[in-house]
Amino acid sequence: MIHKHSISSKEDIIQTINQSIIDKTHIISCLANVASIIYHSLENINWAGFYFRNNYELLLGPFCGKPACERILIDNGVCGYSAKIKKTVIIPNVDNFENHIACDPNSKSEIVIPLLKNSILYGVLDIDSPKIDRFNADDKLFFEKITELIMKHPDIDLLKNIYKI
Ligand code: SME
Repeated sequence: MIHKHSISSKEDIIQTINQSIIDKTHIISCLANVASIIYHSLENINWAGFYFRNNYELLLGPFCGKPACERILIDNGVCGYSAKIKKTVIIPNVDNFENHIACDPNSKSEIVIPLLKNSILYGVLDIDSPKIDRFNADDKLFFEKITELIMKHPDIDLLKNIYKI
């Protein structure tokens, strides 16, 4: 059970997510709360959530923030770029990224972390900020730790029942 009021540091966030995985919380419920925890527990975040891969497109999954585009082709936008190269992408100023898809005009910087298991792309974790240059190398390591934990969820492959991963 997640108690939001007790999550106050990055360490707490990692522990809370880890506990949710140990408890085998339903994979979608777990990811919905990961999005909420990131959105509500960190400074200067206006969107946090998941896209899942369905063949050559990414489909909107659990998230917190304004309504977002439901379908992104691989190689489109920051999410599609991260999905294509299978690496974390940090965009300090989205206005300088030609291919950026603006779901919320308030978003100024963005980090996208691929969800990988045995080099297979399951989707991405996308986080937006209203602040330019919000995400640094420490944030990259932190969010990559979160995705690493998520990919260890015992039911992560249930996603394959819904999406063409
Ligand atoms: N900005 C993303 C699109 C998704 S929204 O930010 C939620 C992109 O360029 O891929």
